Amino acid sequence: MMENPNPNPNPNQNQNQARRRLVCRSVVLVPCPFQGHVSPMLELGSVLHSKGFSITIAHCEEINPPNPSNHPDFAFLPFRLSGDDHQDIFSGGVEALFTSLNARSESPLKECLAHHLKMMPDQKEGRISCIVVYDALMYTGEAAATQLKLPSLILRTSDASALLAYGAMARLQAAGYSDNFPDSKLRDPVPQLHPLRFKDLPTSKHQTLESLVRMVSLVCIKRTSSAIIWNTLDWLEQPAMAKLQQQDQIPFFSVGPLFKLAVPRCPTNLMEEDAGCISWLDKQNPQSVLYISFGSLDFIDERELAEMATGLANSGQPFLWAIRPGSVLGSQWIEPLPPGFVEEIGERGRIVKWAPQREVLAHSAIGGFWSHCGWNSTLESISEGVPLMCSPRFGDQKVSARYISYVWKVGLELETEVMDRKEIERVIRRLMVDKEGKEIRERAAALKEKVELSIKAGGSSYNALNALTEFILSL
Ligand code: UDX
Repeated sequence: MMENPNPNPNPNQNQNQARRRLVCRSVVLVPCPFQGHVSPMLELGSVLHSKGFSITIAHCEEINPPNPSNHPDFAFLPFRLSGDDHQDIFSGGVEALFTSLNARSESPLKECLAHHLKMMPDQKEGRISCIVVYDALMYTGEAAATQLKLPSLILRTSDASALLAYGAMARLQAAGYSDNFPDSKLRDPVPQLHPLRFKDLPTSKHQTLESLVRMVSLVCIKRTSSAIIWNTLDWLEQPAMAKLQQQDQIPFFSVGPLFKLAVPRCPTNLMEEDAGCISWLDKQNPQSVLYISFGSLDFIDERELAEMATGLANSGQPFLWAIRPGSVLGSQWIEPLPPGFVEEIGERGRIVKWAPQREVLAHSAIGGFWSHCGWNSTLESISEGVPLMCSPRFGDQKVSARYISYVWKVGLELETEVMDRKEIERVIRRLMVDKEGKEIRERAAALKEKVELSIKAGGSSYNALNALTEFILSL
């Protein structure tokens, strides 16, 4: 357990804290079982554990279960989803996936939580034995907590600006917009949502606007939860935070980037990392390599793969490309790469199945990150001062890309709506070679410094974490 770096000099306050610590020092975390959600939840667990809380992870056994041996400090409460075949969860769209996941977790989660409570030592009438922190997408965590009379807190794993944009989708639907915003409107500003344009709205070609609005009504509300924990930084998203705070009227704790606060590093990767790429990076010049990854969920088609590969080859720039097996539609891995591509690239490029991304981004050879702008990737990149090349694919990624390129000015967006080799080559040169790229890199370095200050004693995320600790103890 980490020592308290800032011992309280006031003895009365110390006594009060000690009394309260007897009340509730146990936290049950309910992650949503996908990489971009599991990581921040496990990191939150690690951070709260360093503050003296006991941590239990309640998770479904069937989808991406965490590996307990990676987390000897945590207890695990696995539960089986109700129903027979869990694969049918994936057979519908996004909305069906999350409604089914929540519905099928509801009674098993409640049962295993009830059992957990019975097993807890020192049960006393009127005493809160534990609190539940659930991922906003696993809203059944709140239902289970309420039924067991436990307080609950929400962890929001994506950016506040995206949440605000999701919240506006019902208004746009009521104003008569349907699934596809007309091409002529795509670059127009969205009323009351500066700086977003219609093309930046968190829609997806895989989901109708109607279905998105229904989903928003399930995952963007606070229900009976006592507070919201954000994996972001207060000052980074101040305008969105202020608006959401007005709406929600419960305490907010912006404790991001959680991966930076979780020290020592918490192993959260669900896939095996190819560590060999680090020794390849060791041989490259400083800030010369472009790292490419589109996260843990996205798919590209063969045409997109070919355009990306050709753009990379023609740019002449060294690159490290993480391509998840199965992420090129219809292929096992990278079979559809253009003939001769691997030979032509030779030692100038390296392709891996899954990279140790945080280590990669912290490596001095990395000069840019071509990303889909998932919120974890965005936070990881800005925390390491790596400028971004943005290819958002769906949802919150489009909002993050707008903030990266237009508000924080630490990246460039590809201008074409479809992958195009010429545009790719042009943007790689702008970012990695041109004077414009140098200026973007300087701004990214300045942003990194601000993030570093925020997690040190007295910084915004450091203070928010202490406030969160006090808040939980006061429940
Ligand atoms: C999903 C959604 O797609 C995203 O829009 C949302 O913001 C979070 O949930 P994902 O697409 O996986 O996330 O992207 P991202 O949020 O960037 O998370 C990916 C994680 O996987 C990152 O923490 C990254 O470090 C890790 N990663 C990715 C690796 O460690 N190695 C890789 O090769 C690729």
